Amino acid sequence: MGIAEVALHTMPGAFAAHSPAYNLPHGADARRRKRNTNSVSNARALQGLLKIPRLRSVQLQCQRIDDLARVTEGNGTWVKDAMNNASQVLGDASVPDQAVGGNGSLNGNTNKPPPQRRKTSSVDDEAWELLQESMVYYCGSPVGTIAANDPNDSDPMNYDQVFIRDFIPSGIAFLLKGEYEIVRNFILHTLQLQTMDCHSPGQGLMPASFKVRTIPLDGDEDATEEVLDPDFGEAAIGRVAPVDSGLWWIILLRAYGKCSGDLSVQERIDVQTGMKMILKLCLADGFDMFPTLLVTDGSCMIDRRMGIHGHPLEIQALFYSALLCAREMLTPEDGSADLIRALNNRLIALSFHIREYYWLDMQKLNEIYRYKTEEYSYDAVNKFNIYPDQIPPWLVEWIPPKGGYFIGNLQPAHMDFRFFSLGNLWSIVSSLATTQQSHAILDLIESKWSDLVAEMPLKICYPALENQEWKIITGSDPKNTPWSYHNGGSWPTLLWQLTVACIKMNRPELAAKAIEVAERRIATDKWPEYYDTKRARFIGKQARLYQTWSIAGFLVAKLLIEKPDAARILWNDEDAEILNAFSTNRKRGKKVLKKTYIV
Ligand code: GLC
Repeated sequence: MGIAEVALHTMPGAFAAHSPAYNLPHGADARRRKRNTNSVSNARALQGLLKIPRLRSVQLQCQRIDDLARVTEGNGTWVKDAMNNASQVLGDASVPDQAVGGNGSLNGNTNKPPPQRRKTSSVDDEAWELLQESMVYYCGSPVGTIAANDPNDSDPMNYDQVFIRDFIPSGIAFLLKGEYEIVRNFILHTLQLQTMDCHSPGQGLMPASFKVRTIPLDGDEDATEEVLDPDFGEAAIGRVAPVDSGLWWIILLRAYGKCSGDLSVQERIDVQTGMKMILKLCLADGFDMFPTLLVTDGSCMIDRRMGIHGHPLEIQALFYSALLCAREMLTPEDGSADLIRALNNRLIALSFHIREYYWLDMQKLNEIYRYKTEEYSYDAVNKFNIYPDQIPPWLVEWIPPKGGYFIGNLQPAHMDFRFFSLGNLWSIVSSLATTQQSHAILDLIESKWSDLVAEMPLKICYPALENQEWKIITGSDPKNTPWSYHNGGSWPTLLWQLTVACIKMNRPELAAKAIEVAERRIATDKWPEYYDTKRARFIGKQARLYQTWSIAGFLVAKLLIEKPDAARILWNDEDAEILNAFSTNRKRGKKVLKKTYIV
């Protein structure tokens, strides 16, 4: 494919062209990767062909971002225009002769002065200072925070990028401190990185991360320009698709509006379009029988092979939350009735499915223990043909008499009984769990404190995969050894989600206790990314230090405990329509949904 074809082929989203590199012949692979991963060259080719004038100043660039909604308002071809404009804006970003990164040039992270870190008085002050130091600038404006900011780390890999999921606690911290600009910029810039072409894996995907690069300006030896370079998983270890990015983006968008009172961002046409594209991608029909979202392994915070392919809880909780948030923000217009209908149907089916089939407590475990198998019929009790022999020995001992949780994953003849913290906490936050289930999850965390919190909150999942299971399920991953990293490691960032869940259920004392545990050592330990061992005694073997979402997670937890009301920007109240549909559904004893899902 020649350059002309490349450029035209990637229209209108010149920045978004990407596709898995692994199935291309070697030469094509290399060519395509260069073309696809580097949005800059696409933009350039497009500019050359279409003679789009390059913008040379910061002011113009920023103006263009803000103009987007106005230019396209009330215009019948607004979707196309918005896309075209978005692609122009990003490609045209240019700041001649200067590097405007917050900390220096490339990705705002090099040539930075040594951080002045220890003059602050309290852990909270230090956290706030570090968070500000982690800010990444693009064209003079803050657009995100770097994943880890350890001045002594000579090989940061991709931790020098702005990760969408990692930025969420940063964004919330900024919102709670009244600093709205960075969140607004993040929302709008990441929107422009969203895929808008017709290549795999589908319109609407948000990148896992992006980097601000300073590159030489075409035809001018002394000048440089800044560009945003997204990674949709095509450079990530294992080439994992970041399904959670778009869901988090919607959740942050709502939080921004609620906290700042500025609804103009969510009302913008390009933002509405971006939101709809995420929804359409998630609501698209596939081969699936379940209302849960079908994803590959490693498509969320756990972005390595960990046996969470299929319908992992974390994705379902974020999906549910994003659907509710989006419904609140979508502006009614003629074309969106079908989307809203699909969204409502999905919400009902999803909540029923998770509440009913993912739930596990002492009583349910006993039911599973006595399940009959090989039942064929519509009213089978053991719908997924779970063999009781699957119940792992650890669970028989572990399940507390009081309390319960949602299992990690459910597929035909397979229940993943591991406890995953984020999925369970976000089920509380989003009201995917009933009030009773939400309390039961917190009861379980309380009664299993020494397993889940121990010396550093919070275990990402419990228990770890060991021996043969570790070999088969992780593929003998040396980073995910038992009780390390994603495999039973402890992640301080999860403190903020725990805090929101506890505040929502009016049990802030539980979160306060966990914060106290973290505060004892997190700053002295230099804000690690994760901790190892069963009781989280050691700093993770390969953990980054000064990990931004550990810092921001702690800060958000502290800020929310002080002002619990502010947590409302994040949670969703139980939806009356869903409750209604539930009782009707149960009374009639049959499906009320148009779509054939297993409910
Ligand atoms: C690791 C984590 C992922 C995080 C990234 C950046 O890959 O697994 O969840 O987003 O680091 O911190």
